Amino acid sequence: MASLQELSLQELCTRVTKTFRHGGGSRPEVILVRLNGEEAVLKDFSKSDPWFRRVVGPLSARREARALEQLAGARGVPRLLRRVGPDALLLEYIPGTSVREVPPGGLTPQFFERFYRLVDRLHEYGVAHCDLRSQGNILVGADGEPHVVDFAANFKRPRSWNFPARWMYAKLCEADRVAVARLKKSHAPKLLTEAENLSLARDRKTWLERTARFIGKSVRNVSRWLLTKQG
Ligand SMILES: Nc1ncnc2c1ncn2[C@@H]1O[C@H](COP(=O)(O)OP(=O)(O)OP(=O)(O)O)[C@@H](O)[C@H]1O
Ligand SMILES: [Mg+2]
Repeated sequence: MASLQELSLQELCTRVTKTFRHGGGSRPEVILVRLNGEEAVLKDFSKSDPWFRRVVGPLSARREARALEQLAGARGVPRLLRRVGPDALLLEYIPGTSVREVPPGGLTPQFFERFYRLVDRLHEYGVAHCDLRSQGNILVGADGEPHVVDFAANFKRPRSWNFPARWMYAKLCEADRVAVARLKKSHAPKLLTEAENLSLARDRKTWLERTARFIGKSVRNVSRWLLTKQG
């Protein structure tokens, strides 16, 4: 019996059962594909605009694949099933819903505890996620457990002699943990501890945070303007 593992990119695209995000501009297409009862997620950067696809798509796909390889076996992270050509990734499907769709009050104290544990686990494996501000990247699995997707922006733990990069990595790990507090603030503010309130206040004020946000926005806008049709 044919399996999703054997299909080409084109064949996979004919097996779509759900679209999580349409491709275009600087964004990949993310779809659920199904064959003979087997399901997987296809993240396909070849569906973004031509220049973006040629320049950024393969780099993003490779970056994300490498992080997922490093995280292989970590609970709460989808398995990379395989790379499909230079532009696409086939990922384990995590049934559930993104926290963006969970109404306020819908996340329990246990969920947040487990989410902290998951974030610490990523860091033990040597990967800072760097995009946990985006609630679309945090899923509540059908099992009620937290899961994280979308490692395109990850930053890996540098070698111990590389002090500036190690310092940066530590800051990004801290930002991942603050993202848990931020989610708590939006979904269950009564659960926030004193320490979390402090870290949220500190986070708003740091120059690193402001600079990172500014650089992120500028890079995104300039590359979108240069490489996509949207201008
Ligand atoms: N492995 C997975 N299992 C289940 N759902 C997934 C998986 N990967 C991605 N998704 C869904 O697809 C959506 C988009 O995927 P992803 O975040 O990787 O792409 P993106 O281009 O960064 O999108 P966005 O800009 O919305 O974050 C996620 O918000 C999530 O709902
Ligand atoms: Mg995302």
